Amino acid sequence: MYTLLRLVFIALLLALLGGGVFWVLTRPGHVDSAAYDGLTGDAERGKWVFDAGGCASCHSAPGASGEEKLTLAGGKSFASDFGTFLAPNISPDPQAGIGAWSLLDLADAMQRGVSPEGRHYYPAFPYTAYIHAAPQDIADLWAYLQTLPPSDSPSQPHQVGFPFSISRGVGLWKMLYLTDDFTLASPDEEVLRGRILVEALGHCAECHTPRNALGGLEKDLWLTGAQLAGGAGRAPGLTPDHLDWSEEEIAEYLSSGFTPDFDSAGGEMTDVVENTAKLSQADRLAIAAYLKALPTP
Ligand code: HEC
Ligand code: HEC
Repeated sequence: MYTLLRLVFIALLLALLGGGVFWVLTRPGHVDSAAYDGLTGDAERGKWVFDAGGCASCHSAPGASGEEKLTLAGGKSFASDFGTFLAPNISPDPQAGIGAWSLLDLADAMQRGVSPEGRHYYPAFPYTAYIHAAPQDIADLWAYLQTLPPSDSPSQPHQVGFPFSISRGVGLWKMLYLTDDFTLASPDEEVLRGRILVEALGHCAECHTPRNALGGLEKDLWLTGAQLAGGAGRAPGLTPDHLDWSEEEIAEYLSSGFTPDFDSAGGEMTDVVENTAKLSQADRLAIAAYLKALPTP
């Protein structure tokens, strides 16, 4: 798998290097700054965005628990077919973290996958989901992040080999897979509330949707279950043909981790439940309504 991926990427790179096409196509993009003009962040609502977005699951220090999880020192590693990525320090420390950033820097990172220096982030950072959040969500989150404790642990470099080490290559990948259109259309208000939680903030598809050889989500198999990156097991299907729990049962699972037959959530879902448990019951029922509205492929 890895060798094939390398060959595909090298071929793509070589094909495009000629004539500077590659350079033009892979320019880092920015959010529309006008959409952020005059927005004031509400830190309290930002806590909701933070919990729904699961930021602490990836950015807290390895082994942190309880309150320690609010110190976003980074250091957890994420294995994938493309290399091993290390979550950076996103605490408000001005040197080691993102304390010196602006709201627009955070918006570019979360919604365009671009750093303040213009580097493409790797999609191990789920910006393909966060691109669906609203500018107000980002502004509120920014206000909240600044209330968290700083950490001076420096961010660690990723362990990624050629050609994936050429981050401009990620620009090509984004042309294919970074889109802001939602997958499920619905006229129902509760389903739409669930859609923000599932498709945007909760990034459920990152684990529950299969990927193609280039690591892009197979949208026609949306939430039908997938192998987890780095051989960490399987995330089951969430479409009604796979999951026959009632909406109340789904909400209960997202609150306590208990399945209808009193099994409990395990593996990577444990962290997710820790986050969804902090949402309101109405939010969890909205997630359940969204899952029930999914088409059966
Ligand atoms: C699945 C794990 C995961 C989740 C969830 C996640 N991140 Fe990240 N994040 C990463 C990784 C990995 C990187 C490094 C990407 C790179 O350097 O190419 C990153 C990078 C970042 C950066 C860039 C930091 C820098 O120093 O350049 C910011 C800012 C960030 N994340 C904020 C957030 C916020 C806010 C949330 C919650 C809404 C969040 N992340 C959720 C894994 C995650
Ligand atoms: C980091 C990967 C990951 C993310 C993100 C994730 N899940 Fe899961 N999910 C899993 C895994 C792994 C399991 C299997 C847990 C187990 O074996 O106990 C699971 C199980 C579930 C189940 C139980 C299904 C069953 O048949 O037992 C539900 C419901 C669920 N997830 C919903 C969600 C929702 C809703 C989201 C987004 C808010 C989400 N998941 C995000 C990995 C993930």
